[in-house]
Amino acid sequence: MDNLEQKIRELKEKKNAVLLVHNYQVGEVQVIADYLGDSLELSRRAAQVEQDIIVFAGVKFMAETAKILAPSKKVLLPRLDAGCPMADMITLEELRDLKAQHPDAKVVTYVNSTAEIKAESDACCTSSNAVSVVRNIDAKKIIFVPDRNLGSFVQSQVPEKEIIFFEGYCYVHNRIKVEEIEEMKKMYPNAPVVAHPEVKKEVVATADVVLSTSGILKYVAESKEKQFIIATEQGLLDRIARENPGKEILPALKPKFCSNMKKTSLRDIYDSLDQEKYEIQVDAHIAKKAVKALDEMLKYI
Ligand code: 13P
Ligand code: SF4
Repeated sequence: MDNLEQKIRELKEKKNAVLLVHNYQVGEVQVIADYLGDSLELSRRAAQVEQDIIVFAGVKFMAETAKILAPSKKVLLPRLDAGCPMADMITLEELRDLKAQHPDAKVVTYVNSTAEIKAESDACCTSSNAVSVVRNIDAKKIIFVPDRNLGSFVQSQVPEKEIIFFEGYCYVHNRIKVEEIEEMKKMYPNAPVVAHPEVKKEVVATADVVLSTSGILKYVAESKEKQFIIATEQGLLDRIARENPGKEILPALKPKFCSNMKKTSLRDIYDSLDQEKYEIQVDAHIAKKAVKALDEMLKYI
């Protein structure tokens, strides 16, 4: 395994490539990242990359976003079958219907979406800046797609605006139940509950704090507490445990896994670099419109 890591390092050097890795990837991939982070951090990195090639260990919408923000770079997704089911839940027709029904609304689209949907939007957002984007966009009425759970969290934080939801969701976060949190709280009464905003409204109600993946990492690192109940995908819990050895990182009863995020292995990354596959392309007409919505997203922390 060490050998494969070494070979990846050599190939990265030889091909002038950078490896961006999302917090939900498997541990062996996380530890060889040039940059490991949440969707917003990785989008910012992609926009500033100097190398010729970006290898994105994440899911397809992330690599597509990187390509839109860094069009002159070659962007590689090691596993073409690593998608995000939520990103495919809304069709262009459905978004256009919503826009026709609410002509006075602006569209804020979660970055977990296709390039086509981004191109039809006024602004994109990630889990870490969704509240700021909605609060600051110049409209009283917002069509928020595709995640109804993130949309409902944003609505609770920005009550002065009217949000029109779409019924998309993340199957991993949506699976976390209130009963699981309650059971954990009985076992660990002093542990704060830290949740990702893709969890259901009822689960958000049990949380002490709601943050993006890197927000959760920072919260745990800075907290004086020793135990934490964390309601999100297991890859992040593994990272937090590795980087905070004195703290106990507990799942919402049972670990929750995103099968798509778990597809990419070290071997896939090696093959991706070696054969320069799978190159992500975005139609120039779509990219030209989508980049405007992504630039709006990058204005907010
Ligand atoms: P973050 O932007 O918080 O890392 O979330 C990405 C994601 O896919 C959550 O399911
Ligand atoms: Fe998509 Fe959910 Fe997986 Fe994130 S955790 S990539 S939202 S399916």
